[in-house]
Formats: sequence, C-alpha cells, structure tokens
Amino acid sequence: MFSSKSERLTPFYVMELLERAQELKRAGKSIIDLEIGEPDFPTAPHICKAAISALKAGETKYTHSLGLLELREAITQYYNRKFALEISPLQVIVTSGTSPALLLLFMGLLDRGDEVVMSNPYYACYPNFVEYLGGKPVFVHTSEDDGFGLKPDPVAQTLTGKTKAILINSPCNPTGYVMPPETLRGISEAADKVPVISDEIYQGLIYKGKDHSILEFTNNAFVLNGFSKLYAMTGWRLGYLVAPPEYIRPLQKLQQNFFICANSFVQHAGVAALLGPQEHVREMVGIYDERRKYILKRLKETGFGVGYEPQGAYYVLANARDFGGDSLHLSRCILEDAGVAVTPGIDFGEGAEGYLRFSYSNNLDNIREGMDRIDRYFNG
Ligand SMILES: Cc1ncc(COP(=O)(O)O)c(C=O)c1O
Repeated sequence: MFSSKSERLTPFYVMELLERAQELKRAGKSIIDLEIGEPDFPTAPHICKAAISALKAGETKYTHSLGLLELREAITQYYNRKFALEISPLQVIVTSGTSPALLLLFMGLLDRGDEVVMSNPYYACYPNFVEYLGGKPVFVHTSEDDGFGLKPDPVAQTLTGKTKAILINSPCNPTGYVMPPETLRGISEAADKVPVISDEIYQGLIYKGKDHSILEFTNNAFVLNGFSKLYAMTGWRLGYLVAPPEYIRPLQKLQQNFFICANSFVQHAGVAALLGPQEHVREMVGIYDERRKYILKRLKETGFGVGYEPQGAYYVLANARDFGGDSLHLSRCILEDAGVAVTPGIDFGEGAEGYLRFSYSNNLDNIREGMDRIDRYFNG
C-alpha cells in the first residue's frame, strides 16, 4: 500500500530503543538513558520569555517564507562575528529544524542517480534523506585509528560526473570528531566545483581547539544549523540553511510549497537565543566537558575500546567488539538486562558495527549509575 521508497526506509534504531526504554519505565523498571542525543538542560528562561511575549503580542501568523528578517539578520550576525564572514540575510532560509533544512536542500539538489559523498560512520538519517529523493549515498570509510576523520584524498577519489555534493558534519554525530581547519580547507579544494554541505548543528559544543565553519574556506557551500543542541531547544523545532545567493530562489519555492514557513513565535525565541546572553551556553559546554572526561574514564575501565577521544558534540563511539560483534543485539541485552539504553553502532552504518554510541547529554549521577550497571553486567 505504501510507496516502495517508504518501505525501503531503514528504521532509526535509537528511536526504537528509546521507545522500548519508555515501555520498560512505564512497567516500573529503572532505566538510565545514554542513547538519546538530546540536551538534559532546560531552554534558558530569556529564550522562553521571548516566545511567550511573541505569543502574547499575537505573533501567531505565517511569516515570510524565508523566515523573519530579524532572525535572518541575527543568524548572519552570529556567523559573521564568529568566523569573520560577510554572509547576508538574503542567503538564509529559516526552517522548522535542521532536519527539514536537509530535506529542503536535497529536494532542491537531487535528480535520480545523483551521488552525495559522506563518511561512514554517518548520522543515521543522512542516507535515508538522499535515497528517499532518488539519490545515491557514496561512502568514504573512516576508522577509529584515524580518529574517524574524513580526509580530502579519499573524498577526491570518490567524485564522479554524478556527484552533486559532499556532505560533512563537524563536530560529528556519532564520533565526536572535530574537523581541523586544514581538513576543511583540503575538502573544499578537493570538492573543486562540487558544493560542500556542512551540517554544523553541533557547532559551539567543542572541548578542545577552536570552532570553524566551512564558509571560512569556500563560498560554494551550504551550511545547516539549528537551535536544538547548542541552545537546548530540541522540541522547539527551529533551524536554518545558509546557501549561495543563486540557490535561494529555487529553495524558497520549495519552502513555500512544502513547508510555507517556520513557526512564527519560535522564530522570536531564536532571535533571543542568538542575541541574548551566552553565559548559559558556556556553562553547558563546561558541564558536558566534565561528563566527557568522566565517561571516557569509565568506558576504558569497563573494557571498551576508545581509540579516539571525542573533541566535540556529546557522544563517544566506543569499540564493543570484545563484548560481541552484533551491536543491535548487544544494545538490546544491555537495555533489558542491565537497564541502560545505549545506541547500537549499526544505526550509523556498517562502519560503526561492533561499536556502541554513548551520549553524555545526561547528568553525571545518571552517567555514573549507568556505567556502574554496565560494568557489573560485563565484569560481574
Ligand atoms: C548530525 C545531526 N544533524 C541533524 C540533526 C537534526 O536536528 P534537528 O533537531 O535540528 O532537526 C541531528 C539530531 O540529532 C544530528 O545529530
């Protein structure tokens, strides 16, 4: 009954695991969540206040399809100040999250058989976006020994006449890899005339070194970003796409037809997030870093392999091959028998099979309890 392309869509295992974890909790079982990539922090009060004021002021109508000019200006101010750029509000499209921005962009770019180069492991949904729209993901395998880093040379070797884009994600989900500036430059050069799509949703969540944007290295790039992670706003559904000027009009037509615009009062909250105080962000980053150090220590003590210590986002992709090669089976056992939810590596491609992804977007007490349970489960 459903279209064959819908039937072919792979499940997002982490969501299935989350749903099973919720079921177990409802049945009275204690479960620790280390699976979901969602900040445990509440959205800052000044951001909530801005949304409430907008609602009270009647900001409940459709907005401009590209988004409120005030928000597009705040986004460009943020990028221009942080990375010494000169992007214009006319290059920005506001969306209801980074996910719709990905959909919009791939709808705009892909014809049947067009290729998109990406790393493997990858963010679970990337190949599904591409395949659903008739494109073909082309994988470049990265390994733990190399810090899961995507390198320019292998990327260059995969380019064909059908390559429509190179998709990168730094800081990376699921590996926590942060691409150094020389690699961003190298990939921009290797791309030649092919545009680079840079998913920068974890930008700002970085524990060593300096943040970078692809736009420092090339103008032939699309940047995806959103408010879910850095501003702890997952449920608000707000994101954006920065594109070269010539792509805006075709993307705008897609937005008008398929999405109309992003939520109006939420866009006002976005302005407050970008232009308001940033102290709460610095505090969150400091706390994530503490948790990162703690979970890395505990994972190693428990017997997981951690060949690469993540530098950004809030994930560790830990090698669990000593405990079994089938990551889906392993994560189901850990959930049912130890009461801890972790994400199976297979969610992120066969390059991550044999690994488990641990998220440290949960508080230190829960991480400690979760790691105690896993340690007892494997080591008695
Ligand atoms: C790499 C990456 N891109 C995009 C998204 C989707 O984010 P949003 O909440 O903005 O749709 C996520 C969510 O986990 C992600 O990890």
